[in-house]
Amino acid sequence: MNAKIIGTGWQLPAYAADNDYLSTIMDTSDEWIAERTGIRKRYLAKKETTTSLATGAAQKALEASGLQPEQIDLLIVATITSDTETPSTACRVQAELGAVNAVAFDINAACSGFLYALHTADAFIKSGIYKNVLLIGAETLSKLVDWTDRSTCVLFGDGAGAAVLTATEKGGVTAQVTGCDGSRWEVLSCRGRSNHNPVCREESELGYLQMNGQEVFKFAVKTVPLCIEDVLKKADLSAEEVTWFLLHQANKRIIQSVAKRLRQPEEKFPMNIDQCANTSAASLPILLAQMNEQGKLHSGDRLILSGFGAGLTWGACVVEW
Ligand code: COA
Repeated sequence: MNAKIIGTGWQLPAYAADNDYLSTIMDTSDEWIAERTGIRKRYLAKKETTTSLATGAAQKALEASGLQPEQIDLLIVATITSDTETPSTACRVQAELGAVNAVAFDINAACSGFLYALHTADAFIKSGIYKNVLLIGAETLSKLVDWTDRSTCVLFGDGAGAAVLTATEKGGVTAQVTGCDGSRWEVLSCRGRSNHNPVCREESELGYLQMNGQEVFKFAVKTVPLCIEDVLKKADLSAEEVTWFLLHQANKRIIQSVAKRLRQPEEKFPMNIDQCANTSAASLPILLAQMNEQGKLHSGDRLILSGFGAGLTWGACVVEW
């Protein structure tokens, strides 16, 4: 059995901050951000939370799938910005949706989170343990970034995307590759709570996201084409046979470089980075759901989903629509 996507949904906060707005609160410009990254605006949560965005996207995906919340066996939220350290966002979304029969947990694999979640869901479906799975990528990155660091804060945005999967005999997710190089964790990281137990009493503030942008850039343009080639090999497909390459929306120049390395036309690499910026684990499911909503995905299409992020982590999968 494979996992087949039968419904998608997306949700963004109500408030959009464009590059011109950012240039009024820090030393930056629309020209710098757009030229280096392709980003024009990002959505920032005011009242929304990771849980509310995740729930909104999930409700739409469920409605599109035709399944009832009680029919979901497994609910995974990929996120690095859970509203609560515990319980997981997935537990809270389970309650909001009334998905009372679902086992629920979060996955932290940063911007590769949705792919890690998809891989996990596919394994559970293949093993016959679960049949219907709800996957959500949801983030409120705006609470994690350092708004005094112009080289990182302009890159990220908030949002959520969701997909409902069910077991299928043919098609669906036909090949997956995921990977991690933990030795390079410091390239992109966010410090957590420090220890303050009675024998340690270490006092330090919670950290914000820190990134070596150029190292991440080099890692992405090298690793993403390699893992796409890997997954194509696993699926016995050529790049020419792929209808769409949906890449993690981190930087337009990274996506263009991957297209070039794979010798594929840029038109096969849809982008919404200009509108949404980098929404981490939410980036791929938002793009997927928007393309689905726009009627751009047809039965028999072959999709590659691929991403990379903190960890360092990466992944790619082949989906037969
Ligand atoms: N506005 C204006 N200037 C800025 C700026 C901003 N928002 N951010 C940085 N700069 C300045 C720098 O201070 C530097 O100035 P200097 O030359 O006077 O020192 C100059 O722009 C160039 O900075 P640099 O870091 O070399 O730029 P870059 O071309 O490498 O682009 C990134 C920076 C972050 C856009 C790019 O490295 C990148 O996209 N990396 C990948 C990040 C990523 O995808 N992260 C998420 C992974 S999931």
